[in-house]
Amino acid sequence: MATQTLTLIMLLLLTTTTFHLSTAQTKVKGAYWFPESEFPATSINATLFTHLFCAFATLSPTNFQISISSSCSSFTSTVRKSNPSIITLLSIGGGSANPSTFSSMASQSSSRASFINSTISTARNNGYSGVDMDWEYPATTTDMKNFCTLISELRAAITKEAQSSGKSALLITAAVSATPNLNSPSYPVSCINTNIDFLNIMAYDFYAPTYTPKVTSAHAALNDPSGGISGSSGITAWITAGMPANKMVLGLPFYGYAWQLNDPANHGLGAPANGVATATGVGIDADDGSISFNYIKSFIGSSGATTVYNSTYVVNYCYSGKTWIGYDDVDAVSAKVSYVKNKGLKGYFAWSVGGDYNWSLSQKASTTLG
Ligand SMILES: *[C@@H]1O[C@H](CO)[C@@H](O)[C@H](O)[C@H]1NC(C)=O
Ligand SMILES: *[C@@H]1O[C@H](CO)[C@@H](O)[C@H](O)[C@H]1NC(C)=O
Ligand SMILES: *[C@@H]1O[C@H](CO)[C@@H](O)[C@H](O)[C@H]1NC(C)=O
Ligand SMILES: *[C@@H]1O[C@H](CO)[C@@H](O)[C@H](O)[C@H]1NC(C)=O
Repeated sequence: MATQTLTLIMLLLLTTTTFHLSTAQTKVKGAYWFPESEFPATSINATLFTHLFCAFATLSPTNFQISISSSCSSFTSTVRKSNPSIITLLSIGGGSANPSTFSSMASQSSSRASFINSTISTARNNGYSGVDMDWEYPATTTDMKNFCTLISELRAAITKEAQSSGKSALLITAAVSATPNLNSPSYPVSCINTNIDFLNIMAYDFYAPTYTPKVTSAHAALNDPSGGISGSSGITAWITAGMPANKMVLGLPFYGYAWQLNDPANHGLGAPANGVATATGVGIDADDGSISFNYIKSFIGSSGATTVYNSTYVVNYCYSGKTWIGYDDVDAVSAKVSYVKNKGLKGYFAWSVGGDYNWSLSQKASTTLG
């Protein structure tokens, strides 16, 4: 009897420990890296993350196979040097890829098969633990239906490959818009839930200096009391559509946008502006006004810009002369990751790791999630 009780206690302890381990492992502290960021992969402090995404594999419009740069080939071995247990995923597509190539690929059984075969082989041959679908964006009801077929077939092929190779199955993730139907018919939410391990919610780029109306804005606000699009309204829309909170990962931008104020004395949120800031160009993309957090920090240092944190919208901004920049500093990151915890989301990801300054945002995000 005593032995049986002891065995039972030990079993219970074992179960509890295993449960805690797997619960801890389900959190995502993620970030994307891309070779063009001028930030070498060797400089990534991978101990601050659980998951790193190499962006992007490209999709051929002729044979529908994917290919990767040498930096994505060596990415896994590079980042494992600072964190041997880091999980790496190969991200396919991205904002600059032609969405019509994805649309054609997903529309035919033979091209889907070619894509799926090359995706699994490329991921395995280069040490990745998963693949990230970054089709930006399926635009029609047919695209959405084909996206479902594609990820269902990808899941089936990945399950089959895991059985024959004896390795654990590759993860499948996808990067999607902030709501299921932001600029398109709705994503196939139930199909996504069935086939995908977790979903990266791109809760940024809601506004930019090139957009109308021309007013300063929080491009990645967590909240918008005036009812506009925000991170929290997006997450709520996904949950309402049937996506479980614990499969969603909130996107954190490690960059902001620089507007040109009409009047330097009118510098709040919603102040009239005149497109992309031109005065202090360092690091500002002249086309869309985007600027990495590290360049924002140098701008603040050199210009002596005034900095403000608005906790209603959850945004930092700074202004100096006619330049106004909205971005996420540690205050916004901390509030967003607290939201992730309170809402029971799976974690966060950053776009992109090279934009950080002295690891301050990555560090704040990681300690806040715990
Ligand atoms: C990487 O981050 C960890 C955790 O914050 C820190 O202890 C370590 O000093 C950092 N390493 C480098 C090289 O910055
Ligand atoms: C891809 O296709 C090749 C050639 O038919 C085959 O040898 C290989 O096993 C396939 N790979 C996967 C992951 O299905
Ligand atoms: C944030 O900005 C809005 C718009 O200007 C303003 O109404 C609100 O009071 C600000 N919130 C804080 C906490 O400053
Ligand atoms: C970088 O971060 C560390 C703490 O993580 C801090 O001690 C140091 O002062 C920071 N350096 C700069 C230049 O901000």
